[in-house]
Amino acid sequence: MDKNRVYIFDTTLRDGEQSPGASLSISEKVEIARQLEKLNVDIIEAGFPVSSPAQFEAVQLVANEVNVVVAGLARAKEGDIKAAYEALKHGKKPRIHTFTSTSDIHILGKFGDDRYGKTLEEKRKTVLKMTYDSVAYAKSFMKDVEYSAEDAGRTDIGYLVDIVETAIEAGATTINIPDTTGYTFPSEFGAKIAELKRRVKNIDKAIISVHCHNDLGLAVANSLAGIENGARQIECTINGIGERAGNASLEEVVMALKVRKDLVKYFTKIKTEEIYNSSRMVSSYSGIVVQPNKAIVGDNAFAHESGIHQDGMLKNRQTYEIMQPETVGVPKTKIVLGRHSGRHGLKSRLTELGFHLPEKELQKIYEKFLTLADKKKEIYDDDLRILMEESSIKFAASFYELDYLQIHSGTNSIPTATVRIKTEKELLQESATGDGVVDATFNAIERALNTKVSLESYFVRSVTSGRQALGEVIVKIKKDDVVFTGRGISTDIIEASAKGFLQALNHQEQYFKSKDELSTSYLSEISQAV
Ligand code: KIV
Ligand code: ZN
Repeated sequence: MDKNRVYIFDTTLRDGEQSPGASLSISEKVEIARQLEKLNVDIIEAGFPVSSPAQFEAVQLVANEVNVVVAGLARAKEGDIKAAYEALKHGKKPRIHTFTSTSDIHILGKFGDDRYGKTLEEKRKTVLKMTYDSVAYAKSFMKDVEYSAEDAGRTDIGYLVDIVETAIEAGATTINIPDTTGYTFPSEFGAKIAELKRRVKNIDKAIISVHCHNDLGLAVANSLAGIENGARQIECTINGIGERAGNASLEEVVMALKVRKDLVKYFTKIKTEEIYNSSRMVSSYSGIVVQPNKAIVGDNAFAHESGIHQDGMLKNRQTYEIMQPETVGVPKTKIVLGRHSGRHGLKSRLTELGFHLPEKELQKIYEKFLTLADKKKEIYDDDLRILMEESSIKFAASFYELDYLQIHSGTNSIPTATVRIKTEKELLQESATGDGVVDATFNAIERALNTKVSLESYFVRSVTSGRQALGEVIVKIKKDDVVFTGRGISTDIIEASAKGFLQALNHQEQYFKSKDELSTSYLSEISQAV
């Protein structure tokens, strides 16, 4: 093993999916996992199996599908660990990832009850024992066990040394040090890793990992500081999505190590040419738009606006370019397809963009492609990504589908909408008025489905270029304090709005259905058994 090799642990499907408003269907997760495999990540964290039947199934399908280490998250509870094992057991390279909370703030906050001990000292002892027991239990199922000390960034170093030593003693082969709240400074976080390397007696038996959140915008800097002080695994996500302000961004840590190899000797095995496709896929499926000025993958990351910069670039690209766009897979020339492109041409472009297209789906996609090409003469890569995303929305659990929409509006008339919605059993049709046509459409859908939701936000933008551009609508609705996101895409933004609203309702339905299933499933029995 090369001592300078850095392993990339991608947690887009677990921590990334915990981004507010993000939601990925099971088929989207599998598609992203295939793309992560192409990107050549070392480990994919596919989800938190005990948390819902959908999470369980996603971890199971991903573990069985890819030839990469697949991790499933588990709290330090027998039920969680057993569920992770059950989801991973037929996988090619399974890893159980378990964690306990180790900072005083977390211990006092989460283990306030006297049964965990009366004083902080006693509670810390309980957590130490939980750490040992959970890692040892996970180890009874498989060799590859990762342990995380949640909120390690704010954990007392003496206690953290004891915790890490105990987890390794119990069999952990990777020790993850998360800066869960994104609180630390790079110098401080780096020093913590160096201190663990120095003080933990059995540290050579495990790989140290870092998992940094971005609350102060320091996640990437902290991850790199961890590497410079002895960590050899970075936990990160595509586009930096994740809880609150997100996780360290995969593309940024990887490219920082690659571009500055004059300065640091650490390297990853990431195929950087696949970064752009991965970023686009995750953005499309998660519904989380990449900001234009985002490093590496933002629309402006390689754009040169001012005359002085453009002039410099024409004379010598190195004047204002520290890496070439092609290195991260940003295409140099735009490939255009049109209504005369054949099925084969479409399939090969989709494959180049990272999509896996079973033969039986090709004809359906091709028909949609031709319909779009009739409306929009030139079809670019972004149009194809959206076409695939639309299709994956269809392949995902769909309780309600838009069958028909008609609207009426004008300067002197009351906006009115009529919708017909296809459910598993019937067609439901209703009309309603509203303050505008979008409001009328949402009212008609609510009336047809006999429901009422609170609309949290509504966002519309054009996602491809030209007058016939595809419009994207992102709708967020809220029920019982849970937010559900839906995206709709169409050359007609009212139709896109109706589809987005229905998709949010589909996610809501799926969530409450899987919650009900959970209360009757074996997953619930095993979590309650602990
Ligand atoms: O941020 C965090 O501490 C986590 C752990 C579960 C690894 O996501
Ligand atoms: Zn995290």
